[in-house]
Amino acid sequence: MRTLESLGELAGKTVIVRSDLNVPLKDGVITDDGRIRAAAVTVSELRDKGARVVVCSHLGRPGGEVKPEFSLRPVAERFGEIIGSPVAFVSESVGEAADQAIQALNNGEVLLLENLRFNPQETSKDETERQAFAAELSKHTDFVVLDGFGVVHRSQASVTELAKARPSVAGRLVAAEVDVLEKLTVDAEKPYVVVLGGSKVSDKLGVIDHLLERVDKLVIGGGMLFTFLAAQGHSVASSLLESDQIPNCQKYLERAKELGVELLLPVDVVVAEKFAPDAAHETVAADKIAESRFGEAGIGLDIGPESAKKFAETISGAKTVFWNGPMGVFEMPAFAHGTREVAEALTRVSGLSVVGGGDSAAAVRQLGFKDDQFGHISTGGGASLEFLEGKTLPGLEVLR
Ligand code: 3PG
Repeated sequence: MRTLESLGELAGKTVIVRSDLNVPLKDGVITDDGRIRAAAVTVSELRDKGARVVVCSHLGRPGGEVKPEFSLRPVAERFGEIIGSPVAFVSESVGEAADQAIQALNNGEVLLLENLRFNPQETSKDETERQAFAAELSKHTDFVVLDGFGVVHRSQASVTELAKARPSVAGRLVAAEVDVLEKLTVDAEKPYVVVLGGSKVSDKLGVIDHLLERVDKLVIGGGMLFTFLAAQGHSVASSLLESDQIPNCQKYLERAKELGVELLLPVDVVVAEKFAPDAAHETVAADKIAESRFGEAGIGLDIGPESAKKFAETISGAKTVFWNGPMGVFEMPAFAHGTREVAEALTRVSGLSVVGGGDSAAAVRQLGFKDDQFGHISTGGGASLEFLEGKTLPGLEVLR
């Protein structure tokens, strides 16, 4: 992949950087700035080299309409604090105001454009429309830097078409993410353990398919565990269940056996009366969920303490670990134990430990862990999974 070095002298050049600043916001306040910190590396480097830096990103899925709750304005302020110099903001991504703001930049100054997805051309299915948007975005710039790892799996104007509109390279974040994730797909050091959680099995089919042959142990928790329990013939009461995925889970259980891969499912589960932070709850054996005191109304909201202990032992003894998806409803303290134990175990891994984006990254930070306690926290949720599925990612292909 081409990197920043190949751009040569940058002083006085205008560089547009496609970052992924899709951060969680609550009432206009950023609740996890991990993606801004990750994007800051490339932006600071370009600024220090005297470039005029134009940063662009999406935030959420506003559907091609201007929706103030999806504005990147609060991100500009936080970005400036992180890089230690102001980040100007313009309330459109293309148009007269954006043109003026870009042309007014001095060497070493940084400007953030408004949410790209306020413009329907960004995510248009029509390539000509995407090209037109990319041409507008890049018209006052010399180079393009793709640094939004979280969107490399998207064929969107600011990813694929923008990279073709000007000479383009990978930013530091994209290069670092690819470097780490490649270690998980090629010759990972053994024992290699993959831990999957989150709500849906259907989101993880590709990654299970691709990794089952490469790992020593596959650990399953989170909402998706109930479909696996159902595949083993157990009743899961009112827990999350994807009935249409039962055959797939049966297939994976069989395949793991054939390959000699240990597939670890919880031995106990925390079952609650309802989906609420203060719900009454109790721990029961994983094959006795329907026999909890809540009967058929019981909902499994976390793995139980025995399982958490077993999972933690498995993880901390590994040389390579990839984890994606919380073990339970970690946002509710009563159901955060499993996720906390798994995160804690990852911090003890002596080899490479990787937390795969999205909810898992938010979970570890919300539970009070620091980024440097892990080998790597990916900024890409969907992107890191698709990378591990062995898929061709358009935002990386365009840079090769
Ligand atoms: C993410 O949050 O995974 C990235 O920012 C991509 O967002 P998207 O799934 O809305 O394209």
